[in-house]
This record gives sequence, structure tokens and C-alpha cells, in this order.
Amino acid sequence: MKKNKKKIRLMLLAVLLIFIIPGLDQRLYLRKYEMDSDKIQTPVRIVLLTDLHSCYYGKNQERLLQAIASQNPDMITLAGDIFDDQLPDENTETVLKAVSEKYPCCYVTGNHEGWCTKEKFQKNMQFLKDHHIMILAGKSEILEIQKQKLIISGIDDPDSLAYSENKNNTEQQMQGLNPDSQEQTYHILLSHRPELFPEYQNLNFDLVLCGHAHGGQWRIPYLLNGLYAPNQGLFPEYAGGLYQSGQMTMIVSRGLARESTKLPRFYNRPELVVIDLK
Ligand SMILES: [Fe+2]
Repeated sequence: MKKNKKKIRLMLLAVLLIFIIPGLDQRLYLRKYEMDSDKIQTPVRIVLLTDLHSCYYGKNQERLLQAIASQNPDMITLAGDIFDDQLPDENTETVLKAVSEKYPCCYVTGNHEGWCTKEKFQKNMQFLKDHHIMILAGKSEILEIQKQKLIISGIDDPDSLAYSENKNNTEQQMQGLNPDSQEQTYHILLSHRPELFPEYQNLNFDLVLCGHAHGGQWRIPYLLNGLYAPNQGLFPEYAGGLYQSGQMTMIVSRGLARESTKLPRFYNRPELVVIDLK
């Protein structure tokens, strides 16, 4: 009887370990999406980086930079929390310097940029400007990539408004962008927060790119797409993935945060998001 109990305990422990160990895999995951639109005549490949939080991806950030280069993107979108309020900026600066030398880059603030001191925030924004990275604080840019015209707009995170050069609040910034669904140019919104999905639906963007939720930090494959996300609470609806509303799609990256978070990610590998517009 005692022997049987011990056997059962050992078997339970083994099952538990078999479940837990793969869940703690923190290697970078490449997540790909394909978006079809009549507004796209020439395919465009976008890499979405969010929530890097100045985390470490090997010497000179090689693991992340090699993964980006392997995808040969046409442009890079940076959807906030690229810098961190606690961690030093070197890891982020290494990534930004490398990508800005090779690709057009667009950036919006996240909440953690807004939680920095004013001096650190201003230093970070100056770094972006010095590297010709477009800061989209309630404004739009028209880009022409591979002869394909795109409109890319961005709004500040609500927690970064105090430092922003744009004095409008996030909603006013969004209203000012005024997308038009009849417009034949594909219109992308870059915004840190996925929980504003209902507000994005009131406008006519083709694609919205977000981060912030970190995939809900803990996931259970096929059962739970995220346990907790900031500003959404438990069992967040917009933890990560693709969300559709009429003609508009929102893609939420699970982000790149690793050591910046006290609890390890679980079945939620940090992800590099690649989007093919075609
Ligand atoms: Fe965030």
C-alpha cells in the first residue's frame, strides 16, 4: 500500500514537471500574421516590437536583431514600453540604433515611458529623434514602401501624456487622426493599449497594432489566453493575438519583456510579431 502511494506521488510529480518545464521556455517566438486588403497592391512586411522594457537578448542584443534581420522587414513599428522606467536604457538603445540604420521606424509611447523621470523621458525621445525614428504622438505619416503607399498614425499612452509634445489627451489625439474607410490608402494605427479596442472601432483604421498586455503573463495552451493584464485585470479579453471588428483588425503583441517582470512568463514566450500586408 505504502509503495503504491509513493509510486502515485512520483507519477504526479513527473506529470507536473512535464507540464511546468516547457511552460517556462523564455526563448523568442516568431509569430506571423497575414493581412489581405484590396488597398495593398505591393506586399509590405512589418515587424512589430512592443514592451521590450530594455530586456537582454544576448550580447549586443544579437538574438533579437538576428531574428528581425532574418525576416527582412520593410519597416519597424515600436508600440510602446520600449524603454523601461527601472532598467537602464542600453539594451533598448542597442536595438534602436541597429534597426534605425536599416529600416524606417515608427514609435509611440507606452505607460512605462511615462513612468520615467522627465529627464529620462526627454533623453529617450532625443535618442529616437537622433536616430530618425518617427515619434507618432497624435499624428500621421504617409510612407511609400516598395511603391506601396501607407498611412501610419500613432497616439500617446495615457500615462505618457504629461511629458508628450502633444497636449491633447489620447482620445482627442485619436479623433484628430480622422481615418476614412473610403480612403484608398491602407491606414495603420500604432497604440500601446489594446483595451481601447471599443474606441478604435468607432474610427475606420484598417489595422491597429498594440502591446501592453504581455500576453496575460501566464497562459495555458488551448484553455487560457492570459491570466492577468494591466488595465484589464484577470482573464483579459485582449491579452494577445488577432481581434476583428468589421473591416478593422487589431493585432496585440505579447511583447518582449523578460527580466523586467518579477514573475516568469508561463506558456507565453516573448514574441517577435511579423505582419505581411498583401
Ligand atoms: Fe505597458
